[in-house]
Amino acid sequence: MNTIETIKQAAADYTIHPLVASRWSPRAYSPKPIESAKLQRIFEAARWAASANNLQPWHFLVGFKGDEVYTKIFSTLVEFNQLWATNAPVLVLAIGKTTNPKGERNKIFSYDLGQSVSTLSLQAMHEGLYTHQMGGFNVAEAAKLLEIPADFEIQVAFTIGYLGEAELLHPNLLKLETSPRIRRPIAESVFTGSFGHAADFL
Ligand SMILES: Cc1cc2nc3c(=O)[nH]c(=O)nc-3n(C[C@H](O)[C@H](O)[C@H](O)COP(=O)(O)O)c2cc1C
Repeated sequence: MNTIETIKQAAADYTIHPLVASRWSPRAYSPKPIESAKLQRIFEAARWAASANNLQPWHFLVGFKGDEVYTKIFSTLVEFNQLWATNAPVLVLAIGKTTNPKGERNKIFSYDLGQSVSTLSLQAMHEGLYTHQMGGFNVAEAAKLLEIPADFEIQVAFTIGYLGEAELLHPNLLKLETSPRIRRPIAESVFTGSFGHAADFL
């Protein structure tokens, strides 16, 4: 584990699985390409997430640095994200099907899509790869450029890649890349008895 990976380990109050503790969202990527076998396993993991009525609303459009999909996704990122995402070898759009087989709105599609990305990100960690999700992009423009069908919605874009050297990042990003990850206390999120009452088992 390099210094940054050590800094980024979750300072967990209770012992958690090493994959969960070590996942974080880097901005420094190595240009090293990702092996197809690893990509297969990463997207296979996404496939096995839970979903309401097993509707599996998740779809992924994967771009590789230099190809048309990558270039189009990249062009829709806000400037801040372009600053760092440019080094990632893979850029992905996470796209959810918004309707059920009856053609009605699937109100929970976004939740299920998020679960699949979360599962994917842990498999990526297992493969020695990092992901970084982004909400900072022009969704309408991405849908237009990439011809996403009307009953699908793009929710996030994300990078996949090997960790790169933080020192090569734009100076404004270096501090973010080298700061510990922080979370609010668990007692502010997990309740028993009534909403807002810290869980007794903590
Ligand atoms: C839905 C979503 C949108 C995000 N959008 C951005 C973004 O546009 N740019 C960015 O640099 N990070 C973005 N992030 C990364 C978060 O800032 C990051 O996950 C959070 O600070 C926690 O850090 P960690 O993932 O390293 O634990 C996003 C994360 C999620 C889940």
